[in-house]
Amino acid sequence: MGLYEDVERVLISEAELKARVAELGAQINALYSDEDRPLLVCVLKGAFIFLADLVRHLRIRHEIDFMEISSYGKGTASSGVVRILLDLEQNIEGRHVLVVEDIVDSGRTLDYITRNLRTRGPASLRVCTLLSKPARREIDIPLDFVGFEVPNEFVAGYGLDFAEEYRNLPFIGVLKASVMAGL
Ligand code: PRP
Repeated sequence: MGLYEDVERVLISEAELKARVAELGAQINALYSDEDRPLLVCVLKGAFIFLADLVRHLRIRHEIDFMEISSYGKGTASSGVVRILLDLEQNIEGRHVLVVEDIVDSGRTLDYITRNLRTRGPASLRVCTLLSKPARREIDIPLDFVGFEVPNEFVAGYGLDFAEEYRNLPFIGVLKASVMAGL
């Protein structure tokens, strides 16, 4: 069907994602204890599939919450100004917080989120991202867990969109140039 015909190539297969997400889950299990009861903060919308798969590998007690941040306009001269569209339900003071992202690109979104959350007094604040695109980094944010480093190409699938579509692809792929150009 049309959606799959728009894919130029698969960058990270479904099987590779599955294996790596299981490894990340094991690392998170090893880092936190039941007593820590970490709060996993899913950054919407891109991280929703990653979070859903990741938590099924967790054996420690934990909770989840959601945040959504406005996009600041990619590929344009960015002011770096972002704002919160949806905030956490939970008070994170004294909590162990693990931010779950799909991709860190320039680092601006994560910089904003971590600075914002830190003002709320969490016991600890760590970051788990499925993908990191170091070639595009503008702000250096420490990443505690990284699934894969990806080259400087636009990627979609497994939660990541192009113009709000393709999030359902079960792999991370590169779309055809004609699709990206809107042809
Ligand atoms: C993506 C992604 C990160 C951010 C990374 O979100 O989910 O939050 O961009 O880019 P940065 O490091 O350059 O800030 P997007 O704005 O595409 O929203 P979405 O998750 O709702 O698709």
